[in-house]
Amino acid sequence: MKRFLDQKGLSEEEKEIVHSPITTGSIVRSHGFTFIVVFLVAALGFKALINGLYSVGVQQGYAPKQPIAFSHKIHAGQYEIQCQYCHTGVTVGKSATIPSVNVCMNCHNQIKEGAAYDNNTPIQWVRIHNLPDLAYFNHAQHVKVGGIECQTCHGPIQEMDVVRQHSLLTMGWCIDCHRKTDVNSKGNAYYDKLVELHNKSSKSAMKVEDIGGLECAKCHY
Ligand code: HEC
Ligand code: HEC
Ligand code: HEC
Ligand code: HEC
Ligand code: HEC
Repeated sequence: MKRFLDQKGLSEEEKEIVHSPITTGSIVRSHGFTFIVVFLVAALGFKALINGLYSVGVQQGYAPKQPIAFSHKIHAGQYEIQCQYCHTGVTVGKSATIPSVNVCMNCHNQIKEGAAYDNNTPIQWVRIHNLPDLAYFNHAQHVKVGGIECQTCHGPIQEMDVVRQHSLLTMGWCIDCHRKTDVNSKGNAYYDKLVELHNKSSKSAMKVEDIGGLECAKCHY
C-alpha cells in the first residue's frame, strides 16, 4: 500500500487525495461512498418491486360498487334464499354463474333503481373474484364433490350488503387448503378404494394433496 502511494507518476492533486486524512467531506466525495448510496437506493427499490410482485393480482377486500345496490344481506340473509337458487352453476361445472334479470323478475316485476330494469336489459355487474386465465378452478369439484361450504372461501356473504373478496385467491391459498383438508369420501365408491390404499401406507387421513391436489397440471392449463 505504502509503495503504491509513493509511486511516482501521481500528480500533486492525486497525492493530496490519497494522503488526505479521512474527513466527512472526503467520504461524501469518494467513489466508494457514491457506490454504497447508489447500491442502497437500488436495493430498496428492488425490494419494493419484489414486494409489489408478490401482491400482483391480489385483490382481497375488493368490493366494487355495483350498478344496482343488490344486497346479499337482504336476499340470502334476511329472506334466506338459497345460494343455488341464483348461482345455479355451482353444482354443475366450473362457473358459479350470476343470475340473469329474469331470475330477479320471479319476485320483482320491476326493479325501480336507477334506470328501471326489465327482462331485456342485462345488468352489467362488476366482477369481483377473478383468477388469471392460466389457472383452472371448478366450483362443482369443490362444492358438490368436496362438500365445501361457500362461506369457507367467500366468507359470510349472507351478511354483506356489498360483496367483497374474502380470500386471497393466490396459488398459496389453494395449495395450503389442499395440504390440510381431508378428502370427503363419504358415499363415493371411487374414493373408498383410494382411502383403503392410502390407509395401508399412511396413518394420517387422506388429504387433497394425496389425490394429486398439488400437481401443476391440475390447476394450470
Ligand atoms: C337472489 C339472488 C342471489 C342469491 C340468493 C345469492 N346471490 Fe350471490 N350474487 C347475486 C348477484 C346478482 C350477484 C352480482 C352482484 C353482486 O356482486 O352483488 C352475486 C354475486 C355473488 C358473488 C361475487 C361474484 C363475483 O363477481 O365474483 C359471490 C361470491 C356470491 N354472490 C355468493 C353467494 C353466496 C355464497 C350466496 C348464498 C349465501 C349467494 N351468493 C346468494 C345473486 C344472488
Ligand atoms: C374452494 C373455494 C370456493 C368455494 C367452496 C366456492 N367458491 Fe365461488 N369462487 C371461488 C373462486 C376461486 C372463484 C374465482 C373463479 C375464477 O375466477 O375462475 C369463485 C367465483 C365465484 C363467483 C363469481 C362468478 C363465477 O361463476 O365464477 C360466484 C358467483 C361464486 N364464486 C359463488 C359461489 C357460491 C354460491 C358457492 C357455494 C355454493 C361458492 N362460490 C363456493 C372459490 C370458491
Ligand atoms: C325469491 C325472491 C327474490 C328474488 C329472486 C330476488 N329478489 Fe330482490 N328482493 C326480494 C325481497 C323479498 C326483497 C325485500 C322487499 C322489500 O324490502 O321491498 C327484495 C329487495 C330487493 C331490492 C331492494 C328493494 C328495491 O326494490 O329497491 C333490490 C334492489 C333487489 N331486491 C334486487 C334484486 C335483483 C337485482 C335480483 C336478481 C339478481 C333480485 N332482487 C332477486 C326478493 C327477491
Ligand atoms: C377450502 C379448501 C380449498 C381451497 C381454498 C381450494 N381447494 Fe381445490 N380442492 C379442495 C378439496 C377438498 C378438493 C377435493 C375434491 C374431491 O374430493 O375431488 C379439491 C380439489 C381440487 C382439484 C382437483 C384435484 C384432483 O386431483 O382431482 C383442483 C384442480 C383444485 N382443487 C383446484 C383449486 C384451485 C385452483 C384453488 C384456488 C383458486 C383451490 N382448488 C382452492 C379444497 C380446496
Ligand atoms: C391447487 C392449484 C394450483 C396448483 C397445484 C399449482 N398452481 Fe400455480 N397458480 C395457481 C393459481 C390459482 C395461480 C394464480 C394466483 C394469483 O393470481 O395470484 C397460480 C399462479 C402460478 C404462477 C404465476 C403466474 C403469474 O401470472 O405470475 C406460476 C408461474 C405457477 N402458478 C406455476 C405453478 C407450478 C410450476 C406448479 C407446480 C409445481 C403450480 N403452479 C401448481 C394454482 C395452482
